[in-house]
Amino acid sequence: MGKRKLAVFASGSGSNFEAIAEGCRSGAIVDAEVVLCVCDRPGAKVLERAERFGVRSFVFSPKAYATKSDFEREIADLMDSLGVELVCLAGYMRIVGEELLGRYGGKIVNIHPALLPAFPGAHAIKDAFEYGVKVYGVTIHEVDATLDGGRIISQVAVPYEGGDIEELEAEIHKAEHKLYVETINKILA
Ligand code: GAR
Repeated sequence: MGKRKLAVFASGSGSNFEAIAEGCRSGAIVDAEVVLCVCDRPGAKVLERAERFGVRSFVFSPKAYATKSDFEREIADLMDSLGVELVCLAGYMRIVGEELLGRYGGKIVNIHPALLPAFPGAHAIKDAFEYGVKVYGVTIHEVDATLDGGRIISQVAVPYEGGDIEELEAEIHKAEHKLYVETINKILA
């Protein structure tokens, strides 16, 4: 049997992309490979990481398309042609639309740097830090039409009582990389 094929969507640094690609390479994610990196920000650092791992990238500017469905159709067609079985959102800062949900619904997962349903949105770590929580965390969930709202698949708590947000971010990212690799491996098993 061939390897299971993953697509990873990212908008920024791509540290989670790298954790997943490395997880496939090392065998921590068994019998799987990342066949596509989808990125909506030309110049994002994730593209360098994809190149380093020899992963094909599809990079696009949303503004160049009339509607979300137009670029999502192109992405879904490409994923169909590559035989993608699981879509992993990893810092893809965009709500998934009806075209992708219609064609890949139930096969899209997202990672969020908070214990959902607390602190949804694009600035979860900062929001939780400013709120003054003592236990932070990471959530992996199914993606549906709501913002950070689909069924929860896995979570891990990250206790932190210090005052250094950069140190906190580093702790949360470390927890993300471990949880995403373990969770993807379980989903595929
Ligand atoms: C990660 O912390 C991820 O959980 C977050 O963006 C970061 C991307 O980092 N996603 C969200 O906030 C989604 N609402 P990375 O590019 O280094 O993987």
